[in-house]
Amino acid sequence: MKASETKATLSFSNGGDNVDLPIYKGTLGPDVIDIRKLYAQTGMFTYDPGFMSTASCQSTITYIDGDKGELLYRGYPIEQLATNCDFLETCHLLLYGDLPDQPKKDEFTKLVTNHTMVNEQMQFFLRGFRRDAHPMAIMTGLVGALSAFYHDSTDINNPKHREIAAIRLIAKMPTLVAMAYKYTIGQPYMYPRNDLSYAGNFLHMMFATPCEEYKVSPVLERALDRIFILHADHEQNASTSTVRLCGSSGTNPFAAIAAGVACLWGPAHGGANEAALNMLYDIQKAGGVEKIGEFIKQVKDKNSNVKLMGFGHRVYKNYDPRAKLMQETCKEVLGELGLENDPLFKLAMALEKIALEDEYFVSRKLYPNVDFYSGIVQRAIGIPVPLFTAVFALARTVGWIAQLNEMIGDPEYKIGRPRQLFEGSVQRDVKPIASR
Ligand code: CMC
Repeated sequence: MKASETKATLSFSNGGDNVDLPIYKGTLGPDVIDIRKLYAQTGMFTYDPGFMSTASCQSTITYIDGDKGELLYRGYPIEQLATNCDFLETCHLLLYGDLPDQPKKDEFTKLVTNHTMVNEQMQFFLRGFRRDAHPMAIMTGLVGALSAFYHDSTDINNPKHREIAAIRLIAKMPTLVAMAYKYTIGQPYMYPRNDLSYAGNFLHMMFATPCEEYKVSPVLERALDRIFILHADHEQNASTSTVRLCGSSGTNPFAAIAAGVACLWGPAHGGANEAALNMLYDIQKAGGVEKIGEFIKQVKDKNSNVKLMGFGHRVYKNYDPRAKLMQETCKEVLGELGLENDPLFKLAMALEKIALEDEYFVSRKLYPNVDFYSGIVQRAIGIPVPLFTAVFALARTVGWIAQLNEMIGDPEYKIGRPRQLFEGSVQRDVKPIASR
């Protein structure tokens, strides 16, 4: 980290001694004030629930400029990656720091495809779930269970082990998501086919059956690959921070990723794609475009607890660049499938237009995020609504593991252990039960 010549000086209105704090400069984005010695120097903690002003780590992987609506993976704009690269090139970039040349790409693709099968025992583990279990409940269990299968790649202090765990996770997530789907609909699992692309193989495992040949549609394959690229990483979001915190204890890497899956499930995070589509269904059922005004009124009513799902972001105070790309993909996919007049897409466009002109959303800088259109694309591809967040988890796995491995390789890494402002009872004595 590069220290700035300028220091931050903390002063106290009661005349206590000033404290000088170092400032570090990143290559992009706000500088940070180093408060690591603050407690030793002042006996005080900082207070920042929700991490509104806290950089939890240093990282070289992903950068977001929320005001400009800019997203860079290792310095490359998301628009260029989504247009010129495929998901496995993006995985290589996130894991190793740069885009592969052709021989490296071939080698990496071979490595990933060699790990796509999961241990046969996994089927029996799956059978323990109810058929109507939510796919994210199943995924949390299955990814956690991987920690019981791959004992040869769990020494987190060994960079080779970290690498092989990363490859296994990237390779096996599509297999697990497809197995979770096939299990819920009672169809036989389809084994991975390593002659297909990463996205093509996922489509095959999801939609093929042993009864007849399944042809992968190149348009749907490309659309899915783009969904994967757009979701691959997003710096220190809730699930990534969960993976880092969980992994900071030195736990098994598969267990740390399972913690990320659990966090992603929530509707404020990855669960928003499912929630956004259900919201569109509800508006459509209530009367469609005509009812948008009434719905927006509810959203603005603080007592209603209704949110416009797929809108708003902690970091983006401008259009989420992923939402723009997703909207493009949405048009392409619907066009290819002859669904240009899809009522749900029309409803989403009308809702977006009205929200973007409404003072409530304008003043709060609330714009569509990636989840606003991703559900419509996934639904058009044939992915059932409850599986949307599992597809997000599949794509985000590379980001989680790249961030986890970066943390473990960082010489400054320590177990994560936040402190608190205690507002509970001061010490008191236990009374005998009869007099409580
Ligand atoms: N609908 C209505 N009002 C909203 C929304 C929304 N979607 N998002 C934020 N607001 C309001 C919020 O009520 C608050 O208003 P006020 O200042 O009057 O109290 C103001 O905007 C600021 O919001 P906040 O809740 O303080 O912002 P946050 O940074 O804590 O939350 C968020 C960010 C993403 C959790 C939130 O915008 C949200 O719940 N959005 C809907 C869920 C969603 O789409 N999540 C996906 C995020 S992108 C993909 C991902 O990261 O997984």
